[in-house]
Amino acid sequence: MKFNAFLYLCLGILCAFSASAQDMTDDEIKARIQPVGQVHVAGAKAESASSGPRSGADIYNKTCVACHSIGVLNAPKFQNAGDWSPRLEKGFDTVWQNAINGIGGMPPKGTCGDCSDDELKAAIEHMIEGI
Ligand code: HEC
Repeated sequence: MKFNAFLYLCLGILCAFSASAQDMTDDEIKARIQPVGQVHVAGAKAESASSGPRSGADIYNKTCVACHSIGVLNAPKFQNAGDWSPRLEKGFDTVWQNAINGIGGMPPKGTCGDCSDDELKAAIEHMIEGI
């Protein structure tokens, strides 16, 4: 019984919907459909934007971790205050510039060729977090 009532309700909704669709002209239907298409495009744009700038943790885990986790060639170790403090005394911007251009055993951009300056900055901030 309950199921039948549900079925009739569904049919009623379907009829109401198709009836109103028939009342509309082609232009009206197009106008109705259009916003849906726009929402879709906007969604796709948001997606590509979010795959743009990566987080500091992402960059660190992908590239910097190779040397900065265990201190290869004396690289300052991940979130190790003893290693980072003397370097940060030069000022964050200098340390950041050195990461971009390379210094000593530190290759330019830490071998992350497709990293933007801001992504490198985020990676450094991740490495010195809590120091
Ligand atoms: C091939 C190993 C290696 C990789 C990969 C690497 N580093 Fe380094 N990094 C070093 C070494 C070695 C030093 C110490 C350089 C020195 O002072 O002689 C260093 C130092 C640094 C410094 C301190 C610079 C200063 O002024 O004292 C920063 C900041 C830095 N790295 C950031 C990064 C970032 C960000 C990444 C990842 C995108 C990265 N590194 C990847 C080896 C590496």
